[in-house]
Amino acid sequence: MSENASSTQGQANIGVVGLAVMGSNLARNLASRAGNTVAIYNRTYAKTQELLTEHPEAGFVASEDYVGFAASLRTPRTAIIMVQAGAGTDAVIDELTRVFEPGDIIVDGGNARFTDTIAREGRVSEKGIHFVGTGISGGEEGALHGPSIMPGGSDESWQTLGPIFRSIAATAPEDGEPCVTHVGHDGAGHFVKMIHNGIEYSDMQLIGEAYDLIRRGTGRSPAEIADIFAEWNTGELESYLIEITAEVLRQVDAETGQPLVDVILDQAGAKGTGAWTVQSALDLGIPVSGIAEAVFARSLSSKPAQRAAARQLAGPDEEWTVDDADAFIADVQAALYASKIIAYSQGFDEIVAGAAQYGWDIDKGEIAKIWRAGCIIRARFLNRITDAYAEDPALVALVTAPFFAQAVADSQEAWRRVVSTAAARGIPAPVFSSSLAYYDGLRAERLPAALIQGQRDFFGAHTYRRTDKPGVFHTLWSSDRTEVQTAD
Ligand code: 6PG
Repeated sequence: MSENASSTQGQANIGVVGLAVMGSNLARNLASRAGNTVAIYNRTYAKTQELLTEHPEAGFVASEDYVGFAASLRTPRTAIIMVQAGAGTDAVIDELTRVFEPGDIIVDGGNARFTDTIAREGRVSEKGIHFVGTGISGGEEGALHGPSIMPGGSDESWQTLGPIFRSIAATAPEDGEPCVTHVGHDGAGHFVKMIHNGIEYSDMQLIGEAYDLIRRGTGRSPAEIADIFAEWNTGELESYLIEITAEVLRQVDAETGQPLVDVILDQAGAKGTGAWTVQSALDLGIPVSGIAEAVFARSLSSKPAQRAAARQLAGPDEEWTVDDADAFIADVQAALYASKIIAYSQGFDEIVAGAAQYGWDIDKGEIAKIWRAGCIIRARFLNRITDAYAEDPALVALVTAPFFAQAVADSQEAWRRVVSTAAARGIPAPVFSSSLAYYDGLRAERLPAALIQGQRDFFGAHTYRRTDKPGVFHTLWSSDRTEVQTAD
């Protein structure tokens, strides 16, 4: 046990393990709130020392080893792990479970896969220790000044964590409510954070498509398009991502004097949470087509060899601008709004399905509430989602709620024009178009799924159901016989 730790035993009410940017910012945020004394630990002590030197005002209680770290915490000991998801997290959990006691709480604040969280919770709880997978959104700034926090884990751990998390979370501008709620048991917090990121992918790709269409359709410069986004940010599209888009587009590269966006390589990275959202949706049978297209659009961008080989493929005339730029920009704005509604609708569908599958009692209205500030997808219209679930807790699809149905009704003609233009001009708009196809699929009275059932029955005797009577049927296709009822 380090000298430092033994001399400050049991002093801290909360600890942070892992002092990279997110961890150290979260520790500083915790330390800045009245009533908190924060214990810190990092694998390399030099990093701990750096933080101690840079932020003496935080009054951190530092330890050089896990024994000292545990001793510096009051019981129930509560520690937030902020290390890289995966093996790093498991290594820290192993160390903490050695020095913690039953009743203590380990919080994983990283972007862990929710199925890993469920497994870890099972393992750690066998020792009587609580394990709380917690989604934390808002990046470095959010960690320091107020993130949106999505904890899972037991009700008992929430008793301890609730006040601490409430003290550091962002507060919603509308009512000052802290952006944190106990999402549900075991992996529920990380599941909801994963969906948040899926929606984030969709939102970002939609904004990218809007920018590309406007640039190629009107010839406006990035700085001029920045003004358009800034203007959109005063209306129904107001959101953090729209706001930062204006700033990104306005940025000039110091070296070349070009708009920075023109100098950045057009290959988007991804750390995996978007893909997890889609993988999980496939398992749950939930069509999150907009999110999937957003993930695939990043994959396509990052295939330079294929893109180079395909550049010679035929497309429409490159030379093109729209006749009425203002009208086109207004259409793109409407298409963005409608597609964004679909992204949220699909994301909430997945939350409902995940909650049913894993036995979580997730309050959808509360989730929309805690996304109102602090997180990356914070947006004005999240209040409308809370209202929609308050009006109808059993709402089967967010897009069918009166407010959103009307919003899409008002936008749909523009949306169709934008998707048609994109297709006619050879401009990829995968999330705009897939969201529209989803919307039309959802509202269709009849779908060609009937034909697919016929095909399946033809080649595989997979059977089908009829519109006019109950039962399961198979047609003897070669003998021209009609249906044979096989079972009820
Ligand atoms: C957040 C972000 C954060 C992170 C993502 C981005 O809510 O604060 O979502 O978690 O920026 O990991 O992921 P990609 O690297 O996959 O875009």
